[in-house]
Amino acid sequence: MNKNNEFLLLVNELLKHPDIQKLEYYSHHIGTTRLQHSLNVAFISYKTAKFLKFDYKSALRGALLHDLFFYDYKEKGIGIIKHSALHPKIALKNASKICELNKIEKDIILKHMWLANYKFPRYKESYIVTVADKFCAICEATYGIIKKMKRKNIQYIK
Ligand SMILES: [Fe+2]
Ligand SMILES: [Fe+2]
Repeated sequence: MNKNNEFLLLVNELLKHPDIQKLEYYSHHIGTTRLQHSLNVAFISYKTAKFLKFDYKSALRGALLHDLFFYDYKEKGIGIIKHSALHPKIALKNASKICELNKIEKDIILKHMWLANYKFPRYKESYIVTVADKFCAICEATYGIIKKMKRKNIQYIK
């Protein structure tokens, strides 16, 4: 089996769900969509958890569902601090509607904003996802900023 086939097989069932597909219509961290971000976090979490012989299926599923919310906090007019505390709870509620979640997956979703809020994750898989989330956020935002700067430079030259 190809090295990444297992990831695709595990992700496939959830990926078909219309609520997950809807994430493609929301911009996330400047440079990407919420669906791509969720897949990025899921892939890194899966690889890391598998390497460390942790529960990689729960890490992958929790990561894929960690940002399952359908609003833009800027358009909604709520500040970043309120959004940081609110969206994990909304994501957990939305994820519970589309599939059964185990205790690790619930913890991953609810605590993924660790350090931005005070709730310490309970499981090692949750720590993997919260770190993967921050790493992806930095990469995606950097990519988005560079893309915007390049676009501005091109317009200036024209
Ligand atoms: Fe989040
Ligand atoms: Fe995230």
